[in-house]
Amino acid sequence: MKEILEAKRRLEELHTGAPKIAVVLGSGLGAFASELTGRIEIPYPLIPHWPQTTAAGHAGKLVFGYLGELPVAVMSGRVHLYEGYTPRQVVFGVRVLAQLGVQTFVLACAAGGICTSYARGDLVLISDHINLQGATPLTGPNEEALGPRFPDMSEAYCPALRRLAKQTAEELGFTLAEGVYAGVSGPNYETPAEIRYLRTIGADLVGMSTVQEVIAANHMGARVLAIACVTNMAAGILPKKITHEEVLETGEMAAERLVKLLKALLPRIEA
Ligand code: HPA
Repeated sequence: MKEILEAKRRLEELHTGAPKIAVVLGSGLGAFASELTGRIEIPYPLIPHWPQTTAAGHAGKLVFGYLGELPVAVMSGRVHLYEGYTPRQVVFGVRVLAQLGVQTFVLACAAGGICTSYARGDLVLISDHINLQGATPLTGPNEEALGPRFPDMSEAYCPALRRLAKQTAEELGFTLAEGVYAGVSGPNYETPAEIRYLRTIGADLVGMSTVQEVIAANHMGARVLAIACVTNMAAGILPKKITHEEVLETGEMAAERLVKLLKALLPRIEA
């Protein structure tokens, strides 16, 4: 908690505009941050205790600014368990932002598509998750100031925000499908057998991020909307190998649509 408050204090010194909404952007999806006006960009190394990004495609800065009148925080670049960080480090940023007053987190991530009705480049709303990362940020003594020992996860992905996102997408002329996200630890992509297993247990998407942050946000009573970009079809679905280049390239292709969606959606979210 001490570290969280130290980081919060530093950010307050930098006049961050008290955002109620934060957007967390994953691989190749960083474009949204440049849409904000009155931007203050804070590279992660300037924030005490903030974990540094190491993955290609993750810029590693916190951006505060405005979408019209709305104050927004954007975490451009996030850290993952596969980089060697602990679950607590992975959720550090989300916890600091919640202490600053953020009550709604919009997370965007890259994912492999398991459901064969998805196509590469689709944006899919995450409706629920299966945490296969073998870890949660809540292990250890509970920080009562953050939330309860045994938080409920039955509506981890806010149904009202999902309805609003779907409606907004329809108005923009595209459809947002929904799916269950299996969070794995990576960094290797899955084997075809693992993908068949994930499909059998009810997963539509697979990715290496998101679930830790979603657990931490729910623990604190914050609302979550998560949007996965299907950067590739999961292993064994198509007769081709998966590369990180494909993942980044598709993320960049889909980023334009994601930016449109976020620009229309965020002002409609009630604080
Ligand atoms: N598997 C796991 N994580 C991913 C994938 C994938 O196929 N694509 C993007 N992130």
